[in-house]
Amino acid sequence: MLKMKNLNCSYGECQVLYDTSLEVGEGKLIGLIGRNGVGKTTTLKSIMGMVPRKKGSVHFYETNLSDLPPYQIPRMGISYMPQGRHLFPKLTVMENLRIPIVEGPLDKRLLEEIFQYFPRLKERLNQKAGTLSGGEQQMLAVGRALIINPKLILMDEPMEGLMPLLVKLIADTVKIINQKGTTILLVEQNLKTIKNICEGVYIMEKGAIVYEGTPSELEGAMDIQERYLSVKV
Ligand SMILES: Nc1ncnc2c1ncn2[C@@H]1O[C@H](COP(=O)(O)OP(=O)(O)O)[C@@H](O)[C@H]1O
Ligand SMILES: [Mg+2]
Repeated sequence: MLKMKNLNCSYGECQVLYDTSLEVGEGKLIGLIGRNGVGKTTTLKSIMGMVPRKKGSVHFYETNLSDLPPYQIPRMGISYMPQGRHLFPKLTVMENLRIPIVEGPLDKRLLEEIFQYFPRLKERLNQKAGTLSGGEQQMLAVGRALIINPKLILMDEPMEGLMPLLVKLIADTVKIINQKGTTILLVEQNLKTIKNICEGVYIMEKGAIVYEGTPSELEGAMDIQERYLSVKV
């Protein structure tokens, strides 16, 4: 479904991605993990066309995403949840949910599905997003990603900074969303979360993919965990 091949990306003179290749098959929940600053966020941004792709390619099904202007990419069915949520704090929950919808009414069925995952959002529809707790804001960010009924969601550390109970709620919800048919590429720092919910995992180091396997394979590969993720054995 998503195929990135030998992609190179730079911010100005500074190259960040070096021949990065990864694949996400339809229906999969795939994790991308690595230390701070290795290029995980840049990888997601490059898919969305938010950083210039220099060499290599990104295909979504048969479409080369380099052929599309960035605003067309969500219309292909790709949702992006940026790191740090990026909600509109002065707008209400409902207004934030409306943002990705270019025209026409909100899909009531999707809205109900979002409220089923997160009943809290329904209770706070007219509350300004900036006054929500961190966990509620993350729920809203997930809701906003779902509202276009995407085929693929790119999630950038959706559990970052949340307390363990909320980490579990978001992780469980991500799994359910995937089981209902949405493909997900999940960037995470927490290896445990990846092991719990993902079917496949990529490790990134210095702008390149250095490991690809299943969570159970990675579980056994302590040397890899230690080398790339600073996990102590
Ligand atoms: N807008 C930017 N301009 C210049 N350099 C950037 C920019 N964003 C990120 N970088 C650099 O690119 C590298 C990868 O960053 P990023 O993709 O955010 O890593 P990660 O998400 O894995 O922490 C880092 O060295 C970072 O400093
Ligand atoms: Mg990042």
